[in-house]
Amino acid sequence: MASLFRTKSVADIQATLDAAEKSGGLKRTLTSFDLTMLGIGAIIGAGIFSAIGTAAVGEVAANGTVTRYGAGPALVLSFVLLGGVCALAGLCYAELTSMIPIAGSAYTYSYATLGEFVAWIIGWDLILEYAVGNAAVAIAWSDYFCSFLRVFDIHFPYWLATSYRDVAAAHPERMGELPLLFGHHIAINLPGMAIVALITWLLVIGVKESANVNNAMVVLKLAVLVLFVGVGVFYIDPANWHPFAPNGWKGVHQGAAIVFFAYIGFDAVSTAAEETKEPQKAMPIGILGSLALCTVIYVIVGAVATGLVPYKQLSGADPLAKAFEIAGITWGQAIISLGATISMTAVLLVFQMGQPRIFFSMSRDGLLPPWFRKVHPKYQTPHVTTILTGIVVAVSSTVLGRDETYDLTNIGTLFAFLVVCLGVLALRIKEPDRPRPFRVKWVWFVAPLGALSCLYVMAGLPVKAWERFGIWLVIGIVFYFLYGFKHSKLAARELPETR
Ligand code: ALA
Repeated sequence: MASLFRTKSVADIQATLDAAEKSGGLKRTLTSFDLTMLGIGAIIGAGIFSAIGTAAVGEVAANGTVTRYGAGPALVLSFVLLGGVCALAGLCYAELTSMIPIAGSAYTYSYATLGEFVAWIIGWDLILEYAVGNAAVAIAWSDYFCSFLRVFDIHFPYWLATSYRDVAAAHPERMGELPLLFGHHIAINLPGMAIVALITWLLVIGVKESANVNNAMVVLKLAVLVLFVGVGVFYIDPANWHPFAPNGWKGVHQGAAIVFFAYIGFDAVSTAAEETKEPQKAMPIGILGSLALCTVIYVIVGAVATGLVPYKQLSGADPLAKAFEIAGITWGQAIISLGATISMTAVLLVFQMGQPRIFFSMSRDGLLPPWFRKVHPKYQTPHVTTILTGIVVAVSSTVLGRDETYDLTNIGTLFAFLVVCLGVLALRIKEPDRPRPFRVKWVWFVAPLGALSCLYVMAGLPVKAWERFGIWLVIGIVFYFLYGFKHSKLAARELPETR
C-alpha cells in the first residue's frame, strides 16, 4: 500500500534533469517569447473556432432529450468564468513548473507531491488531454478545411472528410451518402489524418524548427481574429443579444464546460520545460501571459459572434465562418476559414509535441517501457513516441465524434488541473523551504478555490463523459498494476531497504 504513495523528491527530479543534460538529452533552445507563442499556439484553436457553436446553442440527442443547455449570448460570461478558473490553475502550474522545470507537466508534479499512483493516473489521464484533444482539433480542422474549399466551389466528398459517429450523431439524414463496405456505412477523415501526418513529420525533424513554424502561425491567427472582430463589429445588431441568457446560469455553466476546450493549452507550455532556457523565469511568463491575452480575445470574439447573428444560427462545425456568411460578409468567410485552419495547425503542433514528452518522463521513471524514451540520434527528438502519438491521433480523428472528443478531453484536463492545485499545497507542506522562483500568493485560498472550481466546471459535462472517463481510469489502473508498479525506478530503489 505504501508503495502506491512513494514520491520522487524535487532533489531527485533535479538530479534526473542534470543527468539527462549531461547525456545529451533534449536541447535547451526555447525562450520566454517562444513559450508565450507556444501557449497561444495551443490555446486559440478548435475551441474558439468550433466548440463555441455547441456552447452557445446547446445539444439535443437524436431521441429529443437535451444533452446540454447552451449559453446563448451569455457565452461571454462562460468565458469570463473560465478565465478565472484557468487563472487559478495557471498560477499553481506556474509555481510548480518554476520549481520543477522538467518535461512531463502535471504528471511530474504529482509524482513529487501526491505519489506514484496518482502520478500514473495523471499521466494516463493526460493522454485524454493531448491525444484525444488533438483528435478533436483534427476533426475541426477538417471541417474548416472543407468550408474553405467550398468558397471556391470545390466539394470534398462527404464520406472522405468526416467520421461515422459524427454522421450518426449529428447528421443521420446524410447516412445514405456514405458508401457501403460489407453492408456497413463507412466514413474516413482524410484531411484530418493528412494534417496529423504532416505535423508528426515536422516534430520528428526537430523542436526548434517547429517552434519557428508555430511563431509564424500564431501571428497569422491573431490577425484573423482581429479581422473577425474589426469587421464584425460594424455588423452587430444589438437585438441579437436578447434574450441574453436564454437558459439562465445552467446554460452559462454547461456552455462553459464544453468551451473550456478553448482554454486548454497554457499548461502544454510546461511540457517544454526541459527545452527552455532559464525556465524559472520563462515558464510563469509563458503560462500566465498567454492565458491572459486569450481570455480578453475570447470575450470580445464571443460578444461579436453572438451580436452578428441570432445565437441559434451558430450551430455546426464552423460557426465563425458561418456568422460572416449569414451576415453577408462572404470575402470574410474565406479568410476566417483559412485562418481557422492555420490556427488549428498550430494547436496540433503543440499537443503533438507535448504528448511524447510526457511519455518520455513516464518511461524515465520506469512506469512505461524504455522504448518510450528513445531519442533520435541526429534530431534529438523522441521520435518513436512522436510517431506513435501521430498514429493514435490520426486514427481517433477518423473514428470518434466531435462533441464527444471535446467532452472527454475537457474532463481529463480539468481533473489534471484539479490535481495540480492540490499538488501545490502538498509540496508547500512537504518541502516548505525549497526555493520557489514563482510563488502563488494566498496559496491556501487560491489553490483550494482552483481545485473546487475545476470540479464545478466538470460537473457541467454530460453524464456520458463521466462514464467514459471512469472507464478510461479503470483501464489505466489495470495497466499500472501490470507494468508500472513492478518496473518503477522507485520500486527498484525500495527493494534493498525492505530486505
Ligand atoms: N485550446 C485548444 C483549442 O481550442 C486545444 O483548439
